[in-house]
Amino acid sequence: MRAALLREVDGPFEVADVPEPDAEGKVRVRVRAAGVNFADVMIRRGVYPQMPALPAVLGSEVAGELDDGTRVMALTAGGGGYAEQVAVDAMQVVPLPEHASFAEGAAFLLTFLTAYIPLTRQVRIGPGSRVLVTAAAGGVGTAAIQIARGLGASVVGVVGSPPKIDTCTALGAEAAYVYDELPEDEAFDVILDQIGGDFFASSFGRLRPLGTVIAVGSASGAWQPVEPARIVGRNVSLAGFYLGRLMRLDPELIGTALGELLAFWQTGALAPHVGAELPLDEVERAHELVESRQSVGKVVLIP
Ligand SMILES: NC(=O)c1ccc[n+]([C@@H]2O[C@H](COP(=O)([O-])OP(=O)(O)OC[C@H]3O[C@@H](n4cnc5c(N)ncnc54)[C@H](OP(=O)(O)O)[C@@H]3O)[C@@H](O)[C@H]2O)c1
Repeated sequence: MRAALLREVDGPFEVADVPEPDAEGKVRVRVRAAGVNFADVMIRRGVYPQMPALPAVLGSEVAGELDDGTRVMALTAGGGGYAEQVAVDAMQVVPLPEHASFAEGAAFLLTFLTAYIPLTRQVRIGPGSRVLVTAAAGGVGTAAIQIARGLGASVVGVVGSPPKIDTCTALGAEAAYVYDELPEDEAFDVILDQIGGDFFASSFGRLRPLGTVIAVGSASGAWQPVEPARIVGRNVSLAGFYLGRLMRLDPELIGTALGELLAFWQTGALAPHVGAELPLDEVERAHELVESRQSVGKVVLIP
């Protein structure tokens, strides 16, 4: 079968013939679409905290078909998604809703779970809540806007460049700004932050009293230390969220949240935003789109 191999950190991808995965004790998925996540970009650059051994086939979420033709979505612990086939644990396989395309299926699980669980379990947003989302036009960002809107909150997005503003407002954000242009007097109950770095450090000053910064990513650079005295003095909170570990520690919670999300998807209140579909041979281009901050929504590879 064909797969995109990464042989070394910073190396090119090589689309090559490789042996089919060993599906013993697992479920084989014939991949019809594979999601590109920011974590894959970090792995390629050697900066992901849990680096896989290289060479490796990256790709931690797919949509495709089982041997009997059942349409599914799946998370692929340990990668392997950028390929024609991947073997996954049976418990990581979820039926793909009838109305959804394979590309949408490959854009759903990681992004929507990463936005939904913190916004419903670490804080409880609803009508009257005001939510700020960073990297708001990206994979997790487009999911977060729709979820926050669907729960009745008002949402503001911040993004890296002007063309992404329309993506946010079209999905239901009340407004969106390039980072430096977020008005000084805007204050929020919740800031879902995916970029870390300087923005994270300054975000506590943007919270309403009793507000919360939820840190889910650090795409722009490492998180700066936050003094507890600052948190106490401002009457605010810091929460952190990491889906990978939660899946290992509390699979039941993940299953419950996923059921809620699938029901939410059925109502039409949300839908995965696929910004680009590229053939597997263009995996370099797919990574370049995400890494250079040109992508919107999810970039998906079609093997
Ligand atoms: N904690 C978890 O469990 C979990 C799970 C999934 C993802 N994440 C994190 O959530 C974030 C979004 O993930 P995603 O897969 O949906 O990616 P994405 O948002 O589609 O792409 C990453 C975005 O980060 C922004 N960014 C800011 N500074 C950047 C920089 N220096 N280089 C590249 N991008 C930069 C860019 O948007 P702008 O140009 O608009 O700034 C870019 O589009 C990432 O930080 C990821 O690590 C966390």
